[in-house]
Amino acid sequence: EGKPTGGDDPARTLGALHEQVRACNRCDLARTRRQAVPGTGRVGLPVMVVGEAPGADEDVKGEPFVGRAGQYLDKWLAAIGLQRGRDVFITNVVKCRPPGNRDPRPDEISACLPFLEAQIALVRPRAILTVGRFAASTLLGTQEGISRLRGRVYRYRDIPLVPTYHPSAVLRDPSLRRPVWEDLKLLSSVLRGEGAG
Ligand code: URA
Repeated sequence: EGKPTGGDDPARTLGALHEQVRACNRCDLARTRRQAVPGTGRVGLPVMVVGEAPGADEDVKGEPFVGRAGQYLDKWLAAIGLQRGRDVFITNVVKCRPPGNRDPRPDEISACLPFLEAQIALVRPRAILTVGRFAASTLLGTQEGISRLRGRVYRYRDIPLVPTYHPSAVLRDPSLRRPVWEDLKLLSSVLRGEGAG
């Protein structure tokens, strides 16, 4: 169609947006990824989970959170009656796997951010759960660590946002389970429309 790769036109549907993500060349991760991982879910789902970046399993399958961390994330969601696909849209700050699962770099995050912003604008979730420090710091525009941020409801534009730890971090450190449970209850109360947020 003669459009620039990665499309700079604002996409009007999630499908068109995800096609742009799959074709994206805006940063060097495009050269090492197997495939981009736009996200799963549809317009209008009440909850959006935002993670860090695809890992090896996601890079192979083209879907977010399908490895061990993802299975654990599904348990968190089930604990408050939520299911991916049915209630939850899942995506990441960075849509392509960083080599060897290194941290995403600031230039990669800013190159990819318009995709996340567009997903939020199209899906219009009633609440956002960020997992890990990259998602929280990116959407809240802060350098504050996740331990200090969590436990409260913020807003991204008008949408209540609950930050918590990354499931991979909790798998490594079981003492984080309790604060995560508190954050999940906070998310649940936001969804029930009870004050907090
Ligand atoms: N970790 C993430 O942050 N995102 C994924 O999709 C998988 C693992």
